[in-house]
Amino acid sequence: MPPTIIQVDNVHKSYLMGKEAVPALRGVTITVSDGEMLCLMGPSGSGKTTLLNLLGGLDEPGRGHIIIDGENVVSMKEEQVARLRLERLGFIFQTFNLLNNFTAFENVEAPMVLAGRLRRKERKTRTTTLLEQVGLADRMDHYPSELSGGQQQRVAIARALANDPPIIIGDEITGDLDSETGFEVMRLIRQLNQEQGKTVIFVTHDPRMAEFADRIIYLLDGVIHKEVVREE
Ligand SMILES: Nc1ncnc2c1ncn2[C@@H]1O[C@H](COP(=O)(O)OP(=O)(O)OP(=O)(O)O)[C@@H](O)[C@H]1O
Ligand SMILES: [Mg+2]
Repeated sequence: MPPTIIQVDNVHKSYLMGKEAVPALRGVTITVSDGEMLCLMGPSGSGKTTLLNLLGGLDEPGRGHIIIDGENVVSMKEEQVARLRLERLGFIFQTFNLLNNFTAFENVEAPMVLAGRLRRKERKTRTTTLLEQVGLADRMDHYPSELSGGQQQRVAIARALANDPPIIIGDEITGDLDSETGFEVMRLIRQLNQEQGKTVIFVTHDPRMAEFADRIIYLLDGVIHKEVVREE
């Protein structure tokens, strides 16, 4: 068994609506192995995005623990959480979330500038390599509005990889793409998983996209309802 990279331990989360607590997660325990590709499925409102937000330290659970790479996210100071998100986790979203006034190149370079670990020249080289890797060598100077949806998502993937995080987290990343483009994006993610050993956790409503995962966990009303390990 490969080592555990993410441990979600009996996590509960409720949102306060006025005076009423709306439960979103009601005791979720998940162990993710290093190098695993895990898919979360479940109906709308079952708690998938809530769980991803907790993994990224964007929100705190009411109860339970979240350990990433041996570190307890829940007890981290804000600065540490920011570092975690910048360097250990690569987030990809349904609507790409690129900076519209930045070119593809600048979007991918931005997290490296924020991390402040590379010199300018190394940054430029790495940005170019990443954009080549996602098949956008000839689109580096385009702005998001000058790219197709699939191309924008590729930029977002390259951006997620900027600081070489061990973990990639995606929330319905093919939701806004036509199915052929969606498949291409998922093939790219699977390739990063298999060739670079990235651990991937992604949410989808599309069972065809879930087929890319090693394991599928189904959430229902904030609890794990079913788990399926896929055979190759
Ligand atoms: N900021 C919030 N304030 C109050 N309630 C919230 C908030 N965010 C989520 N919820 C509630 O928590 C529950 C889980 O929501 P969540 O967004 O995690 O679902 P989801 O599985 O991602 O759904 P979808 O497939 O529609 O994206 C829902 O009942 C939702 O209404
Ligand atoms: Mg969601």
